[in-house]
This record gives sequence, C-alpha cells and structure tokens, in this order.
Amino acid sequence: MDWSLCFHKICLLLLPVLALVLTNGVFDVRSFGAAADGKTDDSKAFLDAWNQACQYKGGVRRRLFVPRGKYMVWPVVFRGPCTGPIELMVKGVVKAPVDKSTFSLDHWITFQYVSGLLINGGVTFDGQGPYAWPENECACKSLPVVSPLLLCSISSVNSKNFHFNIFKCDNLEFWRVRIITPDESPNRDGIHMGNSSRIRIADSVIATGDDCVSIGPGSKDVEIVGVHCGPGHGLSVGSLGTYPNEADVTGLSMRGCTMVGTQNGLRIKTWASELKSNVYNISFSDITMKNVQNPIIIDQEYCPRGGCSNQLGSHVQIKDVSFMKIRGTSASHLAVNLACSPIFPCQNINLEDVDLAYTGREGPAESHCAHVNGDAGGVQRPSSCI
Ligand SMILES: *[C@@H]1O[C@H](CO)[C@@H](O)[C@H](O)[C@H]1NC(C)=O
Ligand SMILES: *[C@@H]1O[C@H](CO)[C@@H](O)[C@H](O)[C@H]1NC(C)=O
Repeated sequence: MDWSLCFHKICLLLLPVLALVLTNGVFDVRSFGAAADGKTDDSKAFLDAWNQACQYKGGVRRRLFVPRGKYMVWPVVFRGPCTGPIELMVKGVVKAPVDKSTFSLDHWITFQYVSGLLINGGVTFDGQGPYAWPENECACKSLPVVSPLLLCSISSVNSKNFHFNIFKCDNLEFWRVRIITPDESPNRDGIHMGNSSRIRIADSVIATGDDCVSIGPGSKDVEIVGVHCGPGHGLSVGSLGTYPNEADVTGLSMRGCTMVGTQNGLRIKTWASELKSNVYNISFSDITMKNVQNPIIIDQEYCPRGGCSNQLGSHVQIKDVSFMKIRGTSASHLAVNLACSPIFPCQNINLEDVDLAYTGREGPAESHCAHVNGDAGGVQRPSSCI
C-alpha cells in the first residue's frame, strides 16, 4: 500500500471540510484546487468555492477569496440564491481562456439568482480581448433569458461590447475593481447596466475603449463614487430611445470622480426617435476633468453613424439633473453643451459651480444650450447659457 498516495487522497477529500472549518465564511479557491498558473482550467475550483460560500450558514460573512496569482477560468455561472449577502474578493488576475469556442458565448462570468453581491479586492479581469476581436461580428445577440425577474447576469469579456454587463441585478456593489484594456479596444464599455437597481461602483479604476460606465434603460438608484475613468468615452446615461418600452433611468448619483483624457465627461444621450421614456433625478457632483473633450454634454440627437431620418426630436424627457462642482480642463472650447429635445425640452437642469478651462486655439471655453430650462449659480466658467 502506498501510504503517501492514500494520505494525499485523504487530504484532498478533507480539504473542503477543513476549508469549511477554518475559513469563518471565507472560501479560498486555492483550497479547492485552483492551480493559479494562468493555464490550468480553474473553473471547477471557483465553482466549488462559490457553492460552499454561497451556502455557508455559519455567520454573516460569505466570501469567495481569490488570492494573488493568475487564474484561467472558463465561462462559469455562479448560482444563488445564497444564504445571505456574498462577497467575491479577488486579489489575483482572472483570465478568460484564449479559445475560439468561447467567443460565441455572450457571457463569461455570470451570476444568477444572487442578491447582495459585492465584488472587490483590486481585482483585474483580463478578457484576453485582442484574441476575440476578429470574431466580434456576431455581437448583437440577445442576452440569455432565464426566469426574468430573478436572473442577474454579469457578463464580462469576451462579450463583445462590455466588460461587465449588469442585467436585471439588484443590490450589487463593485468596490476596488480595476478594469483595464488597451485604448484601442473597440466599443467596449467598462460597466454597462440595464434594468437593474441599487448598483454601487466605488473606489475603482476603469480604462477602456468605450464608455467607462454606461447606464442603460431601467437603471434605478445607481451610485458611482471615487471612480477614475480614462481613457475611454466617459460616463454615459443612455442611449435612450432605442427600443420600445424602455424603462426610465432614475436616481443616479455620481460624486468624487475623475475623468482623464476621455472623449466625454458626463453625458446623457438619446436618439431623436418617437420612443418615450424619462431620465430624472440625476446628480453629478465634485467631478474633476482633465483634458476631456466634452466635459458636460446632453445630446438628444444622438446619431453616431449618421443617416437618422426622424428629425422630429427626441421623446425622452430629461429632468431634475444637477451638475455641481465640476472642475478642470476641457480639450475642446465647447465645455458645456446642453442640446435638448425641441418637443420635450429638458426641465430643471442645474449648473452649480462649474469651472472648466480651455486653453487651445479655439478661444475661451463656451457653453451652448438648446431647449433647456433650469438655472445656474456660483462659479460659471464658461458663463452659463441657461
Ligand atoms: C426592461 O424593463 C422594461 C420595463 O419593465 C421591459 O419592458 C423590458 O422588456 C425590459 N428589458 C429587457 C431586455 O428585458
Ligand atoms: C433621487 O436619487 C437618490 C439617489 O441618487 C435617492 O436617494 C433619492 O431618494 C431620489 N429622490 C427622489 C425624489 O426620488
């Protein structure tokens, strides 16, 4: 009898049990057999650790812990419901496989039936994007539909358009998450959300080829605090007016953030279509811009590829939006551009202490308003057009 082998086996069998006893609700993927070499498929270890953490009944804390190292994870679905709020703490780098067969999937990491999820730890998710880009043509598939009210999906790359796609989620937090891809990565939002509520993104860095955070239809109670955006396209609400029956965007608060070298700073965009919805109760405060092309912009004639036929004006009503303490530098002379709909003019737009400098050839910073109702106070540089 080879005792060492036997011992080895017993250890393997006991590991999850030991993990359970020793962890106090913290489940380390390494204890579940993750190789952490960036090559071996660690999906099973992640799933096993998730299942234990999710079902943990021993206390308030449930944490799936990924220590430093590189982990290759194939598309996985982390399923709930869990016995309470759960945390995914990632110190390492989680990589998607470089394998063509995964590129047709529109998800990488998916959470289902999970409520109260915190993702944190300084995590880096590496979608290994460049390998996937040539295959991106089939991008526009619909999201998987599973029992709609309960499904919460977060897909991260290789999905074509978003690193994280938050869909039908409630009560989810990103904390100290780094999402970094080369500037040239095409049309890839850092975090996109839709039909979701109580989403908080805090103390994170998002550098990507497209929107830093994009807030789509049906987003409610969203908090973005202490986030660095750039490079990329900045923060975007919208676009709205794309599909029938879009739900409103309401209750967005963004504060204490920095936008560096982005195409837009704070943007709300809607197509000039007849599709109705509302954007309201939005507040941006204490935002620093560095060399941002369009620091403050409402664009209700969004039509990026041209050829939009309906020039009646957008039917999306934008109201109760405040921009407070927005400072820094603009990379174009049009630092404030509020181009609202002639049919549904913007209501109650407030500018308070806006100080944006432009020092280029086009002369001093300017503001432009169309169909805007609201008021301005405090410092106004450029002078307000409201
Ligand atoms: C989002 O919610 C709205 C309103 O509840 C609904 O009409 C729409 O179909 C939902 N979107 C998706 C893609 O499920
Ligand atoms: C506006 O949004 C904030 C969150 O940003 C929320 O706390 C507040 O209750 C909302 N106000 C109204 C009147 O809905």
